[in-house]
Amino acid sequence: MRELVAETRLHPRSFVAPLFVREGIDEPHPITSLPGVVQHTRSSLVSEAKHLADLGVGAIIVFGIPSTKDSIGSQAFHPEGIVQQALTDLAGAVGERVVVMADLCVDEYTEHGHCGILDGRGSVDNDATLAVYAKIAVAQARAGAQVVAPSGMMDGQVGVIRAALDAEGFTSTAILAYSAKYASGLYGPFREAVDVEIADGGNRKGYQQDWRNAREALIEVRADIAQGADMVMVKPALAYLDVIAAVRAEVDVPVAAYHVSGEYAMIKAAAANGWIDHDVVAMEHLTAIKRAGADIILTYFARWFAEQVAS
Ligand code: PBG
Repeated sequence: MRELVAETRLHPRSFVAPLFVREGIDEPHPITSLPGVVQHTRSSLVSEAKHLADLGVGAIIVFGIPSTKDSIGSQAFHPEGIVQQALTDLAGAVGERVVVMADLCVDEYTEHGHCGILDGRGSVDNDATLAVYAKIAVAQARAGAQVVAPSGMMDGQVGVIRAALDAEGFTSTAILAYSAKYASGLYGPFREAVDVEIADGGNRKGYQQDWRNAREALIEVRADIAQGADMVMVKPALAYLDVIAAVRAEVDVPVAAYHVSGEYAMIKAAAANGWIDHDVVAMEHLTAIKRAGADIILTYFARWFAEQVAS
């Protein structure tokens, strides 16, 4: 009877698996702080994507780790950049079965690790960054991305990306906007995953949101929708369930939540110590994110969840 009356159900199709692809490696590299997650080679990335497609996972989102970084992150839009190559591989191999998304940012590609281009004083220059994002969006769409997901929290990024895509004929490439992305301590393991260290002990508080603010998230979400976002995201997830619920109540576009690296790592670490039951807590957390109002969940548990359902 509990099954009959359950208000919230999870389905693999609602999940997005984040995947990392690294240039210049012959074997997948484990990520110490994200047990079970690896930096892929181009070919292991395709194998993993096929496995996820077989399991019925809804989408994948790709992050690249280039072998060379520079001040503007040019490998993020170079036609032969690692992510562009990977997107082409994935679109061909699984593009009819899973949605192929690309994270759109420069932090993995810049030597300073910021999500934008720096001005002469070392601060992120919002508008100079927008021009680079426009180029990245077009390069990703051309390579095969069906959805681009700008994660840099620059003001005006969605509008500029929509215009750039449309101008190049990519009118049906969708935008999943990281709209309410908080300057969180929970991205720690991700920085290891993409080999990013922010220069001079810096942080992202200048462009990501202050976790004391919830109403501000709605301003960001409304702005992104007005600029053409097809889907909006709240990130991280568990410490921001109130924000997910508020966004869900406010808008009619699909709402995504990113269950981030630190949220995954905390479960893995506590379970490894025998302090919590891994499967129970993972399911409880993912369900809570859905119950709060997320239609789509980006999580490193995507494969695990789909395997649970399949078994
Ligand atoms: C930026 C980006 C980050 C994450 C996704 N996209 C890092 C950041 O903003 O510092 C974090 C994801 C995670 O922690 O799982 N390209």
